[in-house]
Formats: sequence, C-alpha cells, structure tokens
Amino acid sequence: MRKNIVAGNWKMNKNVIDAQQLMAQLLDYKKANATNCEVWIAPPSLYLMMARDIFENNEVGVFSQDMSEYESGAYTGEISADMLQSIEADGSIIGHSERRQYHGETDSHCNRKVKLALDKGLTPIYCNGETLEQRKAGQHLEVVKNQTETALFTLTAEEIKKVVIAYEPVWAIGTGETASPEQAQEIHAHIRSLIAAKYGQEVADEISILYGGSVKPDNAKEIFSQPDIDGGLIGGAALKLEDFSKIIEGF
Ligand code: G3P
Repeated sequence: MRKNIVAGNWKMNKNVIDAQQLMAQLLDYKKANATNCEVWIAPPSLYLMMARDIFENNEVGVFSQDMSEYESGAYTGEISADMLQSIEADGSIIGHSERRQYHGETDSHCNRKVKLALDKGLTPIYCNGETLEQRKAGQHLEVVKNQTETALFTLTAEEIKKVVIAYEPVWAIGTGETASPEQAQEIHAHIRSLIAAKYGQEVADEISILYGGSVKPDNAKEIFSQPDIDGGLIGGAALKLEDFSKIIEGF
C-alpha cells in the first residue's frame, strides 16, 4: 500500500553505544511527536536485534542494508532472508548503488533478492539510479527503465505492490549535489509509468517510490511535495536526530 516513508540508511556508521543512543532518541521523538509518514531505519546488521528490542511496538521500521540471494549455506559474511524474518525485521534495502559499485551487484541479483524477501514476508526497498556519466549522456531514463524491468518485472501484481522503490541518482549520493525536485519527479513519474504500462495504473499508484541522494532538512519538504515522491531514503542526515527529525517533519 502506498504510504509516506522516511527511511534512514546508516551505512557503516556508529559503534554500539552511539547506535543505541540514536535509537533511544528516535524512540523518544516518535513517542512525543505524531508524524505524517512512517519512519524506518537500516542500521548495520550487528544492531538489528537491538533495534527490534528498542522499537518493540513497531514505532520505527527495522531494515537490513542488504540480504543474501541464497536461502542458506556457505556464503561467508552474508545474512539471509530467513535470519531477518527470525528476528522480526521488517525488510531489507536491496541493490544500493554502493553494493553495485563495491560488490558487483546486478539487477539480476536484485531480482532474486527481491523475490526471496517477498517470499519470506519481508519488505524490499529496491534501489536504482543512474551514474553521472549516464545522466550527462542523457541515458538516465533508459538506465532506470532497464533497472526497474530487470529487477521487478518478473513479479506478480500482488508481489510488486509490496515493493518500495528508492530512486537514488548515484551522482547525488553523499555529494551534497541533490537532484532538483523536478529532476527527481521526472524519474519517479517515469518509474510509475513503466509499472502502470506493465501492471495497470491501479497497481502503479499503490507503490511507494522514495528519493535518495543528499536529502537534508532544508530540501526535504520541497522534494516530498512532488506528486510521485513518497518520501526519502536518507544517508548522512539520518545519523543525527536533529537532522533526521527535521526531514521527517518535511511531510
Ligand atoms: O541510501 C541512502 C543514501 O544512499 C543517500 O545518502 O548521504 O546522500 O543522504 P546521502
């Protein structure tokens, strides 16, 4: 079901003391403030059980930053959908550009991961987005089309409605170079139109599409006001409650 979501991708940040402190601050904030969006975090996997304990009443959604494409077995360092389900995690980020860049992840890997997550009752946050070179070459619409189709278009209509998509132009991640609301809206509308062409407008209108890439307190409200933007996937600004809460209040 389509909803407003602000999700924090903590990446590889915070020791356990700092992580616990931020989660406790976020819990206090959520208890004291009504929000017009769901709030999710993706801390390092080491802290997922702690997060589940702290947010025991589901005040905040708890997501991993990645998950294996395999059910179980000799895959050193990976975590499985079954493990995530067993600790009552809500889902996983899949296909983040840093996984693609540093670990050679492809849209086909993402397709298998998304399907496995859904089979285990987990919510996938499927990331896509073009590089600076692709944008400069005017290939961004085609790139996002291919990423979306390859990773998602083997799903049934009922399955894809459970997927959250995050458009994250690689050139905006961690750079302070935020896509303009118009640039982001163009791609979000493009993704939604691709889904509508394949599954029908009703299904397309059920899907939350988040923007990620240098979302900050001073630009969140304008970005979130766009018709096809349903929230944000936040990196650096998720690491301090002061900034993260201001982004949440962008709705
Ligand atoms: O997954 C969200 C992340 O890639 C965005 O990072 O620091 O540009 O908000 P940042």
